[in-house]
Amino acid sequence: MKIAIVGPGAMGCLLAAFLSKLKEEIWVLDYNKDRASRIMQGGITLEGISGQWQCNPKATADVKDIGIADLVVICVKSYNTKEAITRSKALVGENTAVLTLQNGIGNVEIIAEAVGPDKVIGGVTNLGATLLDIAKARHAGKGETVIGRIDAKTTTGIRSIREIFNRAGLDTRISRDIKSLLWSKLIINVGINALTAITRLNNGKLTEFEGPRRIMREAVTEAIRIAKRKRIKLIYDDPLAKVEAVCEATSSNVSSMLQDILRKKRTEIDFINGVVVRLGQELSIPVPVNSILVDLVKTIEASYNFSL
Ligand code: PAF
Repeated sequence: MKIAIVGPGAMGCLLAAFLSKLKEEIWVLDYNKDRASRIMQGGITLEGISGQWQCNPKATADVKDIGIADLVVICVKSYNTKEAITRSKALVGENTAVLTLQNGIGNVEIIAEAVGPDKVIGGVTNLGATLLDIAKARHAGKGETVIGRIDAKTTTGIRSIREIFNRAGLDTRISRDIKSLLWSKLIINVGINALTAITRLNNGKLTEFEGPRRIMREAVTEAIRIAKRKRIKLIYDDPLAKVEAVCEATSSNVSSMLQDILRKKRTEIDFINGVVVRLGQELSIPVPVNSILVDLVKTIEASYNFSL
C-alpha cells in the first residue's frame, strides 16, 4: 500500500514512525521544501512511551513525486485542511481513501467537498504526541484509534486500513457512527484544550484546581446541550467524567493547543470551542463559557508579540 502522510506535525511524525515499521511505501508530504528535505535526509525520530527509534520514510514537497496513493492521511492543523487537501488532490485517484484523525469538527466536510464523500474516512485517536523539533516527536499517550466512513459502510478499503494500522501497533477499530465519535472527541477537546492553553497547565494538573474544573464542567455542559439538540448520540454515558478520565490518562500531556500557544502558533480554537459558539448562536442555546474561552485564546494568539 502506498500511504502519504500530509503534514509532519506531532501526529504526522508519530503515524509515519509506526507505519514505517511495515513493508509499505510510506511518504511524508510537507509543502515546506527545507523540512521535506530534512526528513528525506535525516528521517524522523520518535521517542517516549514506545521507546526511541528512527524511521526513514520518503519525503517530498512535490505531490508529483508521490503520484496516486492508496491512502492519504491528513495531519495538518484544522485551519490548513482546505489548503492541504486542495494541494494534495493529485494524490487522490479513483480508489484512494483520505483519512482524517484531526481534532475538531469540520475537517470531514472540507475533505468531502474536495474529493467526494465516498473517499473520506473520519476518525478519532487517543494517541498523544508532542512535536519536539522538526522531524522529532514524543509518543506521549497510548490509546485507541477509531475510524469510519461517512456512509457507515464497512468496505474492504476501510478494513485494510484497520488491518495496516493494527499491524503497525496502532490499536484501531471501525465504527459505523462517525458523527457520534467526532462529537464525543469534540467534547473532550472542548473541556481540555482551551483551558490548558489559558492556564498553561498540563492535562493532569488541570483537574487539580477547583477553578478550571468548574469552568470545564460549564464548557462541556454547553457542548452536550448542542449535541443533544442536534440529536447526536455521544459514546460516553457520562461525558464529563470521561473528560476528567482523559485528563488523568494523559496527565503528563501538554495538550495540542497549549503546544501551539507555547510555540506562538495559531490554535485550532475555531474548530473546537468555536464550533460550540457558532452552533449555540444558530440554535439559540446560550454558550457564555465557550464564548469566553474562544475570546481569551484568540487574545493570547493576537498578543504573541506584545511585551509589557
Ligand atoms: O488535542 C489534544 O491534545 C488531545 O486531543 C487531548 C485528548 C486533549 C490530549 O491532550
